[in-house]
Amino acid sequence: MARLPEYVQIKEVGARDGLQNEKKWISSADKVAWINMLSESGLSEIEYTSFVNPKMIPALSDAREVGKKIRRNPKVLYSALVPNMKGLEYALEAGIDGASVFMSASEMHNQKNINKTINETFPVLDEVVKEAKDTGKRVTGYISTVFDCPYEGRISPEQVLRVCEKLLESGVDDLSLGDTIGSAVPTQVEQLLEVLMKHYPKEKLILHFHDTRGMAIANIMTSMHYGINRFDSTVGGLGGCPYAPGAAGNVATNDVLYLLHGLGIETGINEKKIQDAGIYIQNKLGKILPSRSLAYFANAQ
Ligand code: HMG
Ligand code: MG
Repeated sequence: MARLPEYVQIKEVGARDGLQNEKKWISSADKVAWINMLSESGLSEIEYTSFVNPKMIPALSDAREVGKKIRRNPKVLYSALVPNMKGLEYALEAGIDGASVFMSASEMHNQKNINKTINETFPVLDEVVKEAKDTGKRVTGYISTVFDCPYEGRISPEQVLRVCEKLLESGVDDLSLGDTIGSAVPTQVEQLLEVLMKHYPKEKLILHFHDTRGMAIANIMTSMHYGINRFDSTVGGLGGCPYAPGAAGNVATNDVLYLLHGLGIETGINEKKIQDAGIYIQNKLGKILPSRSLAYFANAQ
């Protein structure tokens, strides 16, 4: 078994994957205040919104306003979800350091989520990636449903590999592999990484676990034993994809930090500031978030 990494990079996706799934409207001013709190926590990347069709994701319909108002910390890379050229145009106007393009390994989730077949999606993203790279942006390619699809069931590593190849050909810098419905167990993670790591160095791969069934921490441990040291997570465990029935929140940044710091792995992130950010957004949403370590922190206050 490989040694655990000494450093792990966390991308905080709460303001995007987290809020996209919330029915309660969070005002632009509150989003900005929350992102500003996150910016001072030591995080090196914050995915702060989505420049998608606002009718599909009403919770983030103020993406441009939020992007223009956040206080930028030069140590943080600010990225956002971008589905097409219109989204890229808005994102560049609002200010991004990184663009995250996205699609699925499974045909049906791709259709429901972005209204295109997989083959129709490649040229659209190709144009976005090229333009984003020409303007000097870092580009991540998300691939959803890499383990299971809510409509098609089990997805093979070969299906994922095909999408990885196309996105890397387009010029994405790295790939974020999404357990969209939080269904994977560690053996599925092993099977996928065994295939992908024959083709790509670990530096290209980010793992993005939702925690529907409480398996995300086990899956992160498994990934780290394969040398993976980049993960996406959300404060409090917010999140989910409105176009993936049954998908619960992402793994909580609070819980991941408790694990990593307990293992002696560096992240550069201040755990207390993430807990405070968890309390802030929990109060704004008016509900208890799923993170266990956030609950422990809140009870101890
Ligand atoms: P479409 O309906 O095929 O596009 O959408 P269209 O070009 O026909 O446009 C339809 C309408 O949307 C038009 O407006 C466009 O102007 C508008 P109308 O004429 O009806 O008034 N429009 C836009 N408006 C603002 N910004 C834009 C934009 N594009 C079109 N960028 C599209 C195609 C991809 C845009 C749409 O299907 C969409 O927005 N989908 C996004 C769905 C989404 O955000 N899902 C959640 C994020 S993915 C996720 O959570 C998974 C992830 O976390 C990883 C994991 O967990 O697996 C990343
Ligand atoms: Mg997600």
